[in-house]
Amino acid sequence: LRVALGERSIVMVGMMGCGKTAIGRRLAQRLGLPFADADDEIEKAAGKSISEIFQDHGEEHFREGERKVIARLLSGGPQVLATGGGAFMNAQTRDAIRENGVSVWLKADLPVLLRRVGRRDSRPLLRGDNPEAVMKRLLKERSPIYAEADLVAESRDEPHDQIVTQIINLL
Ligand code: S3P
Repeated sequence: LRVALGERSIVMVGMMGCGKTAIGRRLAQRLGLPFADADDEIEKAAGKSISEIFQDHGEEHFREGERKVIARLLSGGPQVLATGGGAFMNAQTRDAIRENGVSVWLKADLPVLLRRVGRRDSRPLLRGDNPEAVMKRLLKERSPIYAEADLVAESRDEPHDQIVTQIINLL
């Protein structure tokens, strides 16, 4: 590895559907690091699903919980951490990731993302009648911020291990 990880974690960022969880989990296995998924940890901490948190308390409350959970996970030593698509948009969360991690943007284009999110409907932001338009807008708004990540890996439809190898070669 060219990057000295030291106490830092590898933090997967990028849009819903880009594969942060699946690729992150595999990356962790190959590096012999623990893996954590921020969305899962938020659900555990809240005792509710992400959809329920959005419904009952709103997005702002979710973002605050997300920030706290990510800060806690990052203080737990080196690991691979998959974050939800909006986490890196929050300036405080982004700062915590910058301080404690090496961020990897898993970059995928709109058709790939749409195909992948079509498989799950657990995402409150895509509940409306035009999820495609929402994804398109979010991708446009968020890409310049994702681009601030330390590393960028392209995610198309390659086998996961190939993307993981791409990331390991960047590290
Ligand atoms: C969100 C992405 C989701 C989840 C929440 C909000 C977003 O995570 O955190 O629904 O703002 O893009 P995934 O990126 O894992 O789907």
